[in-house]
Amino acid sequence: MAIRPLILPNEPEIEAIDSWSAVKTDEGRYLAYLASIVPSHLSIVEIGSFQGRSTCFLASGSKYGHRATVYAVDPWNLNLDGITGEHLYANFQQNIHKVGVNDLVFPLRAESSDIVKNWKKPIGLLHIDDGHEYEVVLEEYRDWFPYIVENGWIVFHDSTWPDVKKVIDECVQDSDQWRVEDIPATSHGLFVAQRTHSK
Ligand SMILES: C[S@@+](CC[C@H](N)C(=O)[O-])C[C@H]1O[C@@H](n2cnc3c(N)ncnc32)[C@H](O)[C@@H]1O
Repeated sequence: MAIRPLILPNEPEIEAIDSWSAVKTDEGRYLAYLASIVPSHLSIVEIGSFQGRSTCFLASGSKYGHRATVYAVDPWNLNLDGITGEHLYANFQQNIHKVGVNDLVFPLRAESSDIVKNWKKPIGLLHIDDGHEYEVVLEEYRDWFPYIVENGWIVFHDSTWPDVKKVIDECVQDSDQWRVEDIPATSHGLFVAQRTHSK
């Protein structure tokens, strides 16, 4: 099944969220489309939510579709030129409220490796967009992919970063567990694949 960009009526409100280090609109539209096709009994998980731009694309797509819950995993502990983690988390909360998707977003404020220890839910869509170092991305892929159901989706942001690309090449690109979706090049290289079977 070919995927396509989904342009949502509330896109201008999402675009108003700070775009530094975040998905661009061309990428958000694919996230929105994928989220819109996730059935309600499956989870959407995002690793690395920052100020909520990509979370809002996901949750708005889900709202348009089947209302699957979006779990936003992030410790919100960065300190960026005096902007504290508390400030970033407050911005995240404010943004999901402004966009009107707070009822579908469940923030999990901790490192991915801590959250996954107690994770049990089947995942229909996983978006990985946090650390971009090889070991980090590889560990996250290995931690989370067992929860992705057959026909579920994985999305890597910044897939042109050498370390992210290396994980994709080693684990997803030529694996019979995945079918790579051929989408046009996006601003930061969104990579999308669908799980072919869950064993
Ligand atoms: C590039 S930003 C995410 C941008 C966001 N996806 C967007 O497009 O709006 C990276 C985020 O990953 C988070 N992060 C870093 N290490 C993490 C970890 N181990 N687990 C979860 N999130 C992490 C950071 O706190 C930061 O907010």
